[in-house]
Amino acid sequence: MSTTSTTSTIGSESTTRTTRPSRTRLRLAGALATVLVAAGVVGGPAAQAGEQHGKPLTLADLAQRHGRYFGSATDNPELTDPAYTALLGSEFDMITPGNGMKWYATEPQQGVFDWSNGDEIVNLARANHQKVRGHTLVWHNQLPSWLTSREWTADELRAVLKNHIFAEARHYRGKVYSWDVVNEAFNEDGTYRETIFYKTLGPGYIADALRWAHQADPHAKLYLNDYNIEATGPKSDAYYQLAKDLKAQGVPLDGIGLQAHLALQYGYPTTLEENLRRFSQLGLDTALTEVDVRMLLPATEEKVAQQADWYRDMTEACLAVRRCVGITVWDYTDKYSWIPAVFTGEGAALPWDEQLQPKPAYFALREALK
Ligand code: XIL
Repeated sequence: MSTTSTTSTIGSESTTRTTRPSRTRLRLAGALATVLVAAGVVGGPAAQAGEQHGKPLTLADLAQRHGRYFGSATDNPELTDPAYTALLGSEFDMITPGNGMKWYATEPQQGVFDWSNGDEIVNLARANHQKVRGHTLVWHNQLPSWLTSREWTADELRAVLKNHIFAEARHYRGKVYSWDVVNEAFNEDGTYRETIFYKTLGPGYIADALRWAHQADPHAKLYLNDYNIEATGPKSDAYYQLAKDLKAQGVPLDGIGLQAHLALQYGYPTTLEENLRRFSQLGLDTALTEVDVRMLLPATEEKVAQQADWYRDMTEACLAVRRCVGITVWDYTDKYSWIPAVFTGEGAALPWDEQLQPKPAYFALREALK
C-alpha cells in the first residue's frame, strides 16, 4: 500500500510523519487486492508467509520484488560439494567468482590466458539463470609473478594492462553483468594506494582501465570497488571525488562497489545509507559487493544476534536508496568463508553456518527484504 510522507512542524520540533490513506482508498485497495489474489496475480497468505506455489521464496525472489538482486561469491574448489551447490544455485540470482577471474588465474604467463576457472562459474551461473559480477580486472593483490618480479617502463606496463583488460573483458563480453574494473585503489586516508600501476602509470590508470573495459564490453556495468568505504570518511570521500571527476570527464563509470567486510569489534558504519545516497546523486549505481560480518571467536548467541542486526541494517540501507542495485555476500556459508584463513581468531561471518544451516542473520535478511 502506498503512503505519502509529509513534513509538519509540531511546536518547535520538525517531524516527518506518514499520512494515513483515507477509508475510501483503503476499501478500494482492499477490493483490488481481493481481485488480484483471486486472479493469481499476487499471492495470498502463502506469499505473505514467504511462499510461492508452495515453495519458500528465496533471498533472490524477495530482493527481486524490490528490483534488487541478492548474490553470493563462490570459488571453484567448493563446486564439488553438492549440498553447497544446491543452495548456491537456488537462493541467489547473482554470482561473483571469488578468485577465478583474478589476474593470477587468468593470465598465469604473459599473453597466455586461462579462462577455465572463470568459465566454470559463468557456465554454472548461466545454467542456474543467474547473472555474474566480474571480479576483478585490476588489483594489486593476486597478481602473477611474471608481472610483479620485474621492473616495467610506463609504456610497457600500459601495454600489459591494456592487453589484459581487453583479453578478459572481451572473453566475458555479454556474459557478465558488471566488472569490478579497479579494486582497492585507495589507502585509508584517501591517498592513492602505491600499487605497481599507480607508481608506474600515475592516477590516470583508473580512467584508462575504465575506458578499455568499456571498449571491450560496452554493456557491462563498470565499477570501482573497495573495503572500508561503507561509512563516509576520508577513503569513501576519495571515491566520491574521483567518481565526480571521472563523470565530469566522460569516463565510463557506472557504479561504486562497497565491499562491506564488516567486523563486530569495529562497529557498524552508521552513515552507510547517507553514503550510498550521495553516490546515487552523482548518477551512479552502488552495490554491497562482498558482505560478511566477522566476529572474534568463539561465536556467542549475543554476537550472532548482533550480526543479524547488522545484516538487517545493511539490507535496509540498500533498499532505502534507489540506485543501490543489489547485495552480494562473500560466499554464503561459514564452511567456505575466507575469513578464518586471513583474520586469525575470527570467523562465523556469513548467514549460513558450517553445516549449511541458516543462522539468525539469514532470517534477518529475509525480514529486511519482506
Ligand atoms: C579473497 C578470496 O575470497 C580468497 O579466497 C583469497 O585467498 C583472497 O581473496 N577483497 C576482495 C576479494 O576484493 O577479492 C578478496 O577475496 C577478499 C577481499
